[in-house]
Amino acid sequence: MVIGGASGIGAEICREMADNGYAVVVGDRNIDAAQALIGELAGTGHAAAQVDVADEASVATFFDSLSQRPGRFDVAVNCAGITVLGLVTELPVAKFRRVVDVCLTGAFLVVQHAARHIADGGAIISLSSLNARQPAVGMSAYCSAKAGLSMLTQVAALELGARGVRVNAIAPGLVRTPLTSGALGVPGVESEYVENVPLGRPGTPGEIADAVLYLARAQWITGEVLDINGGAHMMRYPNVHAHFERSVQAGSPA
Ligand SMILES: NC(=O)c1ccc[n+]([C@@H]2O[C@H](COP(=O)([O-])OP(=O)(O)OC[C@H]3O[C@@H](n4cnc5c(N)ncnc54)[C@H](O)[C@@H]3O)[C@@H](O)[C@H]2O)c1
Repeated sequence: MVIGGASGIGAEICREMADNGYAVVVGDRNIDAAQALIGELAGTGHAAAQVDVADEASVATFFDSLSQRPGRFDVAVNCAGITVLGLVTELPVAKFRRVVDVCLTGAFLVVQHAARHIADGGAIISLSSLNARQPAVGMSAYCSAKAGLSMLTQVAALELGARGVRVNAIAPGLVRTPLTSGALGVPGVESEYVENVPLGRPGTPGEIADAVLYLARAQWITGEVLDINGGAHMMRYPNVHAHFERSVQAGSPA
């Protein structure tokens, strides 16, 4: 199953898993997009279900119905994520909480329920971020939540190892998706980002999906947070907030 699978990186993971013979259950807050994606996946046995990771009852219901399905539940991928831009001195706590609710507490609920239902020997894979280790001006909520998710991954890996359940995360650098298209549209953001990527470009959803497939199969890897970012973790993150402010002052907000 892929939660947050209806868009961007998650949708590409669903395509790649289906291409490799998995029956995929796409969970997402956006059920219309999840259902539309099912129609384009290769193979059979796929399904879509609505789930809001910020709502514990919704996550419990999703996994209860998943466990009623035929077949073995052996791979859980959590891609649900949101972000918000605002300096620490200005960001309303409600916005901070909302990002943490989805990206950290939501991830905890997904890992918790996935662990209760997944077959022994299965794989749980979360989407962390370059921002789990690389701070970015104006992104306190997202950076904090993703840093927490990277540590949650390692704690869960310790706890689930006895069942052979592998718990890993992928930490992508900037990938063009609906989540990032706004920021990438702000003049200066993409160029400053690329200047700080040794391999000289943003990533693609397919490059992240390849790694998910690898981790789904990798029998002796657990507690790993895999950086996939063209080497960006060795350099610095662009000042998205400053570019955004300049763009607003110039009268051309993205
Ligand atoms: N795109 C990037 O550059 C990038 C970089 C690093 C990490 N990530 C992470 O990868 C993951 C996927 O990002 P993306 O760029 O594909 O974003 P996206 O916006 O294209 O997709 C995110 C999906 O999550 C779903 N979602 C959001 N809130 C949800 C909730 N409460 N419950 C259930 N579903 C919910 C959305 O409906 C959407 O389908 C996120 O966790 C993101 O933080 C993305």
